[in-house]
Amino acid sequence: MSETTSVSDQPTAEPTPESSPRHIRIFDTTLRDGEQSPGASMNLSEKLEVAAALSDMGVDVIEAGFPIASPGDFEAVRQIAQTVRGSTICGLARCNEKDIDRAWEALKVASSARIHVFLATSAIHRQFKLRMTTDEIVERAIAGVKRAAAYCDDVEFSPEDACRTEHDFLCRVVEAAIDAGATTINVPDTVGYATPGEVFDRFKMLCDRVPNMDKAVLSTHCHNDLGMAVANSMAAVAGGAGQIECTINGIGERAGNAALEEIVMAIKTRQDYFNLTTGIDSKRLVPVSRLVSKTTGISVQRNKAIVGRNAFAHESGIHQDGMLKERSTYEIMSPEEVGFSKTDLVLGKHSGRAALADRAKQLGFTLNGEQLQSVFDRFKVLADKKKEIYDGDIVALVQQQISGT
Ligand code: KIV
Ligand code: ZN
Repeated sequence: MSETTSVSDQPTAEPTPESSPRHIRIFDTTLRDGEQSPGASMNLSEKLEVAAALSDMGVDVIEAGFPIASPGDFEAVRQIAQTVRGSTICGLARCNEKDIDRAWEALKVASSARIHVFLATSAIHRQFKLRMTTDEIVERAIAGVKRAAAYCDDVEFSPEDACRTEHDFLCRVVEAAIDAGATTINVPDTVGYATPGEVFDRFKMLCDRVPNMDKAVLSTHCHNDLGMAVANSMAAVAGGAGQIECTINGIGERAGNAALEEIVMAIKTRQDYFNLTTGIDSKRLVPVSRLVSKTTGISVQRNKAIVGRNAFAHESGIHQDGMLKERSTYEIMSPEEVGFSKTDLVLGKHSGRAALADRAKQLGFTLNGEQLQSVFDRFKVLADKKKEIYDGDIVALVQQQISGT
């Protein structure tokens, strides 16, 4: 008998059943934290338009504003609560009676309402901002959550600056808030200080140590001061979060919040890795990004992931050649999936013959090898003088070649 074992003789691993993807709630705070971006204020009709677009896109929770902040914000939250259906409408309140009552006054007309109560818990905030002891903080958190829970059964509690709060104290506050009636516990990285590894550990620690954690949904809310808001949000989800708080185009306080479009497309494009889903219709990402940019006056940087003008633009000859042969060589998602009409093969000094021939063909010119070489030589001379070559330039170059000028 042969000593070798054929492949078919080898024991095979039991096929593991594919677990279905976990649904992640998308909580959009463009109209609250996003509006706190310097210069991003929106008027009532603008807020209503953005809220409707967010709801149409499939956002689970819309944080519509901070009702106590101003009469205008109150009215915006009230009208959004009255008119927008399909998403839960949320209003922010500090942990005091006046704020919570005012938030409910604005939200009570909603078909699905949430009061979001927050109170800082880190030592820095306790000592310098609130001047309160840990016992006083716990007492205030319990009272605030209870007051909100008396109005509605959907209450979110945020220990502000949670990512710089001592583990033991954070566990204590979270447990008390859940006992008092909080159904979502948000763990904000208020100052964008945490790293992905730390965020993962903190969320896992809460899941492991808070005895009633299964009675609430854990939420992540990351700021982008060190450019890690999206990575931190994904780490939080790996650590047990079921809700991600984010904003369109990543606008928000200082360097902004985690960008909704990046989170949604990370989850969608890397479903093989994360095994998560959201209810967001990704084709609406670009239109909503443009609406928010137009409304706030904050333009989207050209190389912004997902929604920036260059996100699906290719200029180098090698990349363009690959793209023309097979899109997946240089594209991990399609522009159509996020709401762009098409990939942009930008013609510039790095472009090659293949992209030039392709563009000439789209413009109605089929060039033989010799003609193409001659147009290409002129194209390179022109490209050294201009940042971008437009269709009109190509037409002129081809016509010069045809007329022999
Ligand atoms: O960043 C933050 O801590 C906040 C809270 C109000 C949740 O925006
Ligand atoms: Zn925030």
